Amino acid sequence: MQSVVCNIQRDVDVYVAIGRGRDMADAIGFGTIDRTRIEIVILELTRNLLAHAGGGVIELERVCRAEREGLAIEARDNGPGIPDISLALRDGYSTAHTLGAGLPGVQRLMDEFSIDSVVGVGTRVRAVKWIPQRSERFR
Ligand SMILES: Nc1ncnc2c1ncn2[C@@H]1O[C@H](COP(=O)(O)OP(=O)(O)OP(=O)(O)O)[C@@H](O)[C@H]1O
Ligand SMILES: [Mg+2]
Repeated sequence: MQSVVCNIQRDVDVYVAIGRGRDMADAIGFGTIDRTRIEIVILELTRNLLAHAGGGVIELERVCRAEREGLAIEARDNGPGIPDISLALRDGYSTAHTLGAGLPGVQRLMDEFSIDSVVGVGTRVRAVKWIPQRSERFR
C-alpha cells in the first residue's frame, strides 16, 4: 500500500505533513469531517514530536483490511520515551505545562490507537481511521 514518510524537525514540517495527510484522506475517499479529524491527529502527533522528542518522523499509509480502506498515521522518534503511558493518556496530564489534550484527543478521534515507548529509546504512536461502512455514514 502507498505510504509517505515526513521528517518532522521544525514547525513548517507540521504543515507539510498535514497537507500530505489531507491529500491522502481525499484520495482514499474520506468525507470532510473525517479528513479534519485526520488533520488534527497529524497536528497533535507532530507537535508532540517537536515538543517532547526533539523531532522524529510521521508515516502516513493507505491501508486495507477485509476490503475496507483506511489511513494509518504513525509517529516515531528516538526521544526520551514515556515512562507511564496510561498517565500520558489522561486528559489534562502534561509534562510541558500545556493542556495535556493531545494524546487523549487523538485516541478519541481515531478507530485504532496504540503507543509503544521505551524510556531512553523512543516512542511510536500509531492510529488508524477506517472509511465508514455505509450504515455508519453521517455520524
Ligand atoms: N513523542 C513523545 N515523546 C515523549 N513523551 C511524549 C511524547 N508524546 C507525548 N509525550 C508525553 O505525554 C504527555 C501528554 O501528551 P499530550 O499530547 O496529551 O499533552 P501535551 O503535549 O503535554 O499538551 P498538548 O498536546 O495539550 O499541548 C506529554 O506532556 C509528554 O510528557
Ligand atoms: Mg501534545
